[in-house]
Amino acid sequence: NAPLVVAVDGPSGSGKSSTARGVARALSLAYLDTGAMYRAMTWALLQRGVDPTDAEAVAQVAEQVRLVSGTDPDAPTIEADGVDVSVPIRGPQVTAAVSPVSAVPYVRRLLVQQQRAVIEAAGDGIVVEGRDIGSVVAPDAPVKVFLVADPVARAARRAAEDGSDDAAATLASLERRDAIDSTRAASPLVRADGAVEIDGTHLSLEEVVDRVVALVREVR
Ligand code: C5P
Repeated sequence: NAPLVVAVDGPSGSGKSSTARGVARALSLAYLDTGAMYRAMTWALLQRGVDPTDAEAVAQVAEQVRLVSGTDPDAPTIEADGVDVSVPIRGPQVTAAVSPVSAVPYVRRLLVQQQRAVIEAAGDGIVVEGRDIGSVVAPDAPVKVFLVADPVARAARRAAEDGSDDAAATLASLERRDAIDSTRAASPLVRADGAVEIDGTHLSLEEVVDRVVALVREVR
């Protein structure tokens, strides 16, 4: 039978990664970070000198890029063209360029296909985080979560993660990314049909993880 899919969607900095990894660990499931795939694709395009805002060039070169996603929630890895890019994909260049790359429909088609292949290969089940998991990648997922948080709380969290002391700049960059991700024509960030919204602003990570685990236990 098909693996159990837990879809975790939401805007940047809402705590998706920590939540999804925590849930995967608690339930011994695999974990897939689809944002890391869009970031790794962006990294590879920048390496090749492609202008991330040139949709035609992006689509043309995207096909040559080979991505490999690890699915261990304790040690998530991502390779692009045989290089482990887990660290550089979190840098400011990739962060600034990832939203226009992700808006290119052909890039989405390629990556959604790869994401579905990873999901199918997951034995027991998999927690998948992104923007369009419940709406596009795995619309039949029995558990769908839409994680939100106050923008100021999200910016503070991201700034702390990035080791930046400029929360205002982080907030501006995050809101820019949210705006592009939510208004693009191809699979914009939306709350999927059947998704349970969780507002993590005033919850601890543990509390959010517990809520998602409880949702999984209802269907398992
Ligand atoms: O989750 P993360 O912030 O790492 O995602 C980086 C970017 O990748 C997002 O801003 C968005 O543009 C894109 N993305 C997407 N669809 C997904 C996951 C991420 O478009 N499923």
